[in-house]
Amino acid sequence: MNNHFEWTNTVENAPATEPERQRYFMVKCRELIEQKKQELGRDLTFNPQTFGCQMNFKDSEKLNGILEEIGYVKVDSENADFVYYNTCTVRENANIRVYGRLGSIKNYKKKNPEMIIAMCGCMMQEAEEVEKVKNTFRFVDVVFGTHNIYKLAELLYECLSTKHRVFDVWEKAEGIIEDLPSDRKISFKAGVNIMYGCNNFCSYCIVPYVRGRERSRKPEDIITEIEKLAKEGVVEVMLLGQNVNSYGKNLEEPVTFAQLLRMVEKIEGIERIRFMTSHPKDLSDELIEVLAESKKVCRHLHLPVQSGSTKLLKAMNRRYTKEGYLELVAKLRKAVPDLSLTTDIIVGFPGETEEDLQETIDIVRQARYDSAFTFIYSKRSGTPAAEMENQIPEDVVHDRFDRLLKVVNEIAKEQNKKLEGTTGLVLAEAIDEKDPSMITGRLSNNNVVHFKADPSVIGKIVPVVLEEAKGFYFIGRLSEDV
Ligand code: SAH
Ligand code: SF4
Ligand code: F3S
Repeated sequence: MNNHFEWTNTVENAPATEPERQRYFMVKCRELIEQKKQELGRDLTFNPQTFGCQMNFKDSEKLNGILEEIGYVKVDSENADFVYYNTCTVRENANIRVYGRLGSIKNYKKKNPEMIIAMCGCMMQEAEEVEKVKNTFRFVDVVFGTHNIYKLAELLYECLSTKHRVFDVWEKAEGIIEDLPSDRKISFKAGVNIMYGCNNFCSYCIVPYVRGRERSRKPEDIITEIEKLAKEGVVEVMLLGQNVNSYGKNLEEPVTFAQLLRMVEKIEGIERIRFMTSHPKDLSDELIEVLAESKKVCRHLHLPVQSGSTKLLKAMNRRYTKEGYLELVAKLRKAVPDLSLTTDIIVGFPGETEEDLQETIDIVRQARYDSAFTFIYSKRSGTPAAEMENQIPEDVVHDRFDRLLKVVNEIAKEQNKKLEGTTGLVLAEAIDEKDPSMITGRLSNNNVVHFKADPSVIGKIVPVVLEEAKGFYFIGRLSEDV
């Protein structure tokens, strides 16, 4: 895929090195925003619209950090002076949703001539989508990709000062820029990128094309960031990467993911460590050891299986077999008996037969997942699977999907039932959306628990008796044995 759009800023005096250059543009933008504020007699606002996975949500925190530094004030409505769409393209419906939203935002722009609309994220790494925005959605002012989100201030300055549309999408990442602002939503938990990109090229997946090759951050940069977070009151970190198990392989001084976990564990104040996502082919014995021994690494592993059919796994380029995956699960269960296991499954991959579906149902029964995300295969142009013959008709896929989901739900319910009556440590996260007298939190194994408590427990880890398993969540009671 060739999707490089050249763009260079002509502003003189801007430093050539990062992050100094972006700091410079943040100041320049701040001056312009300050001027506008005086003219209009009000604050200038921004509204983030984020789609897709945790990577995108993490990127949005960085974009929000820059926008706040510039002087914009965050609001919940798309009726704002700057709105960005951080897009996802992993499945077709993600794209459709974004274009639907763009259609409706046009009216806001008609009423507010100051409004700037930006699009970024994975969809913008696809040349045909950028062309579509360029030609069909002419009210979109700024377009950038996944490799240059750190340049938001520079791109915005160009747009604000010239009133031109700005397109800047890079085919490849150019190193990792550290030390730029970031704005976190929750005070006690945070996501931390440990690596970017993916080298696996599963045959159905667009991510390696839109996120580029695997790049690991240096362990010292990760540790410094987490130490800072801990000082700010963060107790739980989620280490993020498309395939965390291959973390550190491409560093000058290679470090394994298990070694990184041990380093993070030593950070005072951090009580829980989670990570996403693990590819089964790279899950090491060393990692299993850390999972078994650690007091901080959570009792939860998301281990996407995608299919239970060895034939389909091969066609998907997953590089493990059904038997290999089940052996890994057995090893994990033996070493960490209280581990909660979750997964991703794709239904309707090209060439899937009824027998293949039965293999998938069988692996769900054998692996006993605590929950699973099931997806209908979505054809992504540019991926090898999109060219495969035997694409499966929609009605057949839906029928298979429904049957699989029934089994997934049945097993998940049984798994949860096992914990009924036990006491678990819960990180209290928020006031329950449905019942404000209740608090919602998560167990180490990632299960959701609702329990009566004072909002002052939010951000703390408290013991909760799991009184009733309700399918995917628990109703609990604060334990008195504190
Ligand atoms: N890096 C992670 C997953 C990233 S995408 C991993 O390898 O596990 C999240 C999930 O989306 C995948 O696990 C897969 O189940 C699903 N997915 C990816 N591409 C898809 C496609 N073309 N159609 C349907 N589901 C897809
Ligand atoms: Fe996609 Fe596979 Fe990479 Fe996950 S490991 S992001 S499914 S290519
Ligand atoms: Fe979507 Fe990009 Fe994540 S395609 S799933 S937002 S890496």
